[in-house]
Amino acid sequence: MNAMNSNNLSASETNPLSSLDVWEDDLLERYPDPETIARDKSTEEYRNYEDPKRESVKEFYRLNHTYQTYDFVKQKQTEFLKFDKKEMSVWDAFNFLNQLVDDSDPDTDLDQFQHLLQTSEAIRADGHPDWMVLAGLFHDMGKTLCLFDEPQWAVVGDTFPVGCAYSEKIVYPEFFKNNPDYENPVYQTKYGIYSHGCGLRQVDLSWGHDEYVYNMMKDYLPEPALYMLRYHSFYSQHRENGYDHLMDDHDREMFKWVKLFNPYDLYSKNPTPPNWQELRPYYEDLVAKYLPATLKF
Ligand SMILES: [Fe+2]
Ligand SMILES: [Fe+2]
Repeated sequence: MNAMNSNNLSASETNPLSSLDVWEDDLLERYPDPETIARDKSTEEYRNYEDPKRESVKEFYRLNHTYQTYDFVKQKQTEFLKFDKKEMSVWDAFNFLNQLVDDSDPDTDLDQFQHLLQTSEAIRADGHPDWMVLAGLFHDMGKTLCLFDEPQWAVVGDTFPVGCAYSEKIVYPEFFKNNPDYENPVYQTKYGIYSHGCGLRQVDLSWGHDEYVYNMMKDYLPEPALYMLRYHSFYSQHRENGYDHLMDDHDREMFKWVKLFNPYDLYSKNPTPPNWQELRPYYEDLVAKYLPATLKF
């Protein structure tokens, strides 16, 4: 199977969602509270609820599950983890990210920076370490992939391991039947190309903004913060525990942090934007404490 060439896609295949936020709004319906695990009943209820937004999310997952092959992931790692596209200061990077605007719903949606700031402020308000606040501030910076013309299904969406069998706990698992890897017997055993308890550092996840921002930040933040960045969209593990067999004890220890982080991402959205002018000095100091003067994309 040749690697998917995303340039041959139609507009609707590149951007099935009216904005990236539609995916996150949908997560809130799947996980309406911090304790929720999508058990069979709630999963069924979720799927039976039909509306145009839900249909676009379903189409989004159809594309994501069809095109995120092992080879596609490897190709995107090679393309983007060189970080040779752009270099800019942190504050210019937030302006760059904010070019991702949602025209469909200008009154209710906050820009990307406001979501990041609300996440980091909620973490700070609960007295967590400053590097966790910083993880909150940067966790979605990888969505800048969209600004390099990447299709939405290669930027957001729940992530999952490639190169081994798909968990039934991943949302819309039936769409994996369209994935060329589904026909590859090497990839379709429980462990696939991995082994029991090999540790997630050995495992490639579907490509998206998590892996990208993790690699952007990996030299600068403590390990628990890096786990939060790298696995915050890995719902089939951090909510559903579908891949415990690939984790080692160190991953299990670190996933306590991923789970601690997730509610701040999902439930901190608030229509009132934080007062950036007041907050700015704190964040300038925090960024200067951990990060270099410029970031590479
Ligand atoms: Fe995210
Ligand atoms: Fe987020």
